[in-house]
Amino acid sequence: MSLSLIGKSISVSATLKLNETAAILRDKGEPVIHLGGGEPKSKAPVDALIAAANLLNSGEIRYTPPDGIPALKKAIIRYTEEFYNRLVEPENVIASSGAKQSIMVCLQAILNPQEEVIYPAPYWVSYPEMAKLIGAIPVPVYSEDGTFYPRLQDIEQRVTSYTKAIIINSPNNPTGAMYSEKFISEIVEFCEKKGIWLIMDDIYHRLVFDGKKPINCYKFAKDLTENSKLVVVNGVSKQYAMTGFRIGWAVGNKKLIEAMTNIQAHQTSGPSVVTQVAAAAAINGVQSQVESLRLTLENNRNILMERLKAFNGVKAYKPDGTFYCFADFSYYMKDSTKLAQFLLDKVRVAVVPGIEFGLEGYLRLSTCGSVKDITEGIERIKWALDPDAPNELYIGERKLVRDWL
Ligand SMILES: Cc1ncc(COP(=O)(O)O)c(C=O)c1O
Repeated sequence: MSLSLIGKSISVSATLKLNETAAILRDKGEPVIHLGGGEPKSKAPVDALIAAANLLNSGEIRYTPPDGIPALKKAIIRYTEEFYNRLVEPENVIASSGAKQSIMVCLQAILNPQEEVIYPAPYWVSYPEMAKLIGAIPVPVYSEDGTFYPRLQDIEQRVTSYTKAIIINSPNNPTGAMYSEKFISEIVEFCEKKGIWLIMDDIYHRLVFDGKKPINCYKFAKDLTENSKLVVVNGVSKQYAMTGFRIGWAVGNKKLIEAMTNIQAHQTSGPSVVTQVAAAAAINGVQSQVESLRLTLENNRNILMERLKAFNGVKAYKPDGTFYCFADFSYYMKDSTKLAQFLLDKVRVAVVPGIEFGLEGYLRLSTCGSVKDITEGIERIKWALDPDAPNELYIGERKLVRDWL
């Protein structure tokens, strides 16, 4: 079939594919435990649901401005003031159909074909594919010290005359690592000095543990004028458990936001008005649900870390935030895709192979399910991989007999 080069080069989203496979197996009645998910299981805030329902009841569901309705932009401005101590104007804000679209249109507005975008590895699966979609070159940077915490010197080494943008995602998907204030201040200063766009993907910034607080990148910026190349991306998906609403946003200089708006206007127009109204209500509404989600995730993280200690061969690094843990399973199998498939086939546990995030031998385990999902899922994985485990395992009524170790 004569597909375009781009059509042929973009990979399937590993995480979305995994969701699909797990859902198909579940529909067939298979007892799948999903430790691969990227969305909290709590309900959307009631304020959001009421606002959406009221609008639906009115029957007036229309197009919106391509950069979002004024009420949502106002809520985002207030959010930016509260969490970033920065007062921006409506022209500095665009609302999109998810943070994913905000990042995509931002990259489209910034990068020419062959220009480079740098991001620390391990990285969110979509960054390389987004760069490829515009013919730009994705440049993942691995820390030479082998940790999940990037260092400026490693990034500096990969900067060329083609480098146009750097994306920083902290706390990070897939590692859960929250980068230090020192690193954030260094990267802000470095990008300002070099005139490189800095995109802060802050989608998990409120989901941090151990008393940590979200880091405000603007604190380190010297240039807060309309020449600033600092862009902050956020959204309602993770913090408010509103993944299906598809609302995210970007805050940046007015020229950039205008260009992003023009692109988005031709791509999808404004996001759905129903979900914009819901997102505004969530941002303006009672915030206790965010704290309760954060506490649940911290507890889940602790339980997961405890359970992983039972493995001889797993190296797990304690996440500072998010709902992911990126653990080294290479002792059991070097090929993470094969290992993930093996776990799904043998014990019906879904996990995402590390290679999808740029690091072979690792698995991304998600803690956004229930405590039972975590404990039972890890028990099944242990049974599948541990030669000393008993030969049989019961999943409900079903008896599994191990015939592979
Ligand atoms: C690092 C990161 N950025 C952005 C997104 C996109 O979020 P949204 O649902 O708002 O498109 C995700 C979703 O998984 C993510 O993990």
